[in-house]
Amino acid sequence: MYILNTVDEIRKFVRSARATGQRIGFVPTMGYLHEGHLELMRWAKKHCGIVVVSIFVNPTQFGPQEDFAQYPRDLERDAKMVESVGVDVIFNPSVSEMYPSGYCTYVDLERVTERLCGLSRPGHFRGVATVVTKLFNIVNPDQAFFGQKDAQQVLVIKRMVADLNMDLEVVTVPTVRESDGLAMSSRNIYLNPEQRQAALVLYKSLKIAEEAVAAGQKDTSIIRQLVIDTIAAEPLAEINYVEIYSYPDLEPVTKILESVLLALAVKIGRTRLIDNMILGVGDQCI
Ligand code: PAJ
Repeated sequence: MYILNTVDEIRKFVRSARATGQRIGFVPTMGYLHEGHLELMRWAKKHCGIVVVSIFVNPTQFGPQEDFAQYPRDLERDAKMVESVGVDVIFNPSVSEMYPSGYCTYVDLERVTERLCGLSRPGHFRGVATVVTKLFNIVNPDQAFFGQKDAQQVLVIKRMVADLNMDLEVVTVPTVRESDGLAMSSRNIYLNPEQRQAALVLYKSLKIAEEAVAAGQKDTSIIRQLVIDTIAAEPLAEINYVEIYSYPDLEPVTKILESVLLALAVKIGRTRLIDNMILGVGDQCI
């Protein structure tokens, strides 16, 4: 497995792989990998002969008060994990390789970014859309793999790929959870044991909503309140948002007649965690 740091090197690698007739699968990450990331890579390996993983903590998607500086980084550990699932190459550029001095071009989406994390993290999706566009242009993959854990991010990327006629397929991979239900996240490392226990309230509240829907409840305001009450009963949890929108259009919805997205952002201590579930009829991912 190779670790390449420059745009030129990764372009050369992909060009020669493609010349042998192989399909290129791509998994963008910010590193500090866990089973969720590895699952994306396994899917990529199943679909494509060559798999490229990027590891880049992207400064443009963090707000000024957010955790860019302390975001966990461990390339040596990541490289071992990536190699174990058969990835061919890691692209690990520096910030100046991605954003050289004079850089001034950004990708901005309307509507889909104006809700959920788009409201609580202004500028976040502009940074995500910009870096993912750059990575797509650099790697030029046939397929790119994203996790349902970040449901709004997948919708943003799919919208962008469609709107800008990008020539690749975006594949959504279901959320990978710890055995007790906590969605895997690089940020779980910030939680102390007491907070780690409290963090279970996210999944617990999603399951309560799922059970209510299964029992015939269709009123989104009642389900939303159930979720809010469940989270509020956990003293260490502070709700950032609990929202239900139509899926995948993210329009306001009062009755569950088709698939809806129940999305949560909750702070446990200083750590902001997100999770979601698709409720109603239909698939868990689009
Ligand atoms: P990061 O948080 O490292 O996540 C990389 C990919 O792994 C994303 O597609 C994310 O949805 C997926 N992922 C994370 N946790 C997961 C889980 N528990 N189950 C399934 N998939 C999971 O998301 C980003 O990085 C960045 O925004 C990025 C797209 C790389 C742009 O900088």
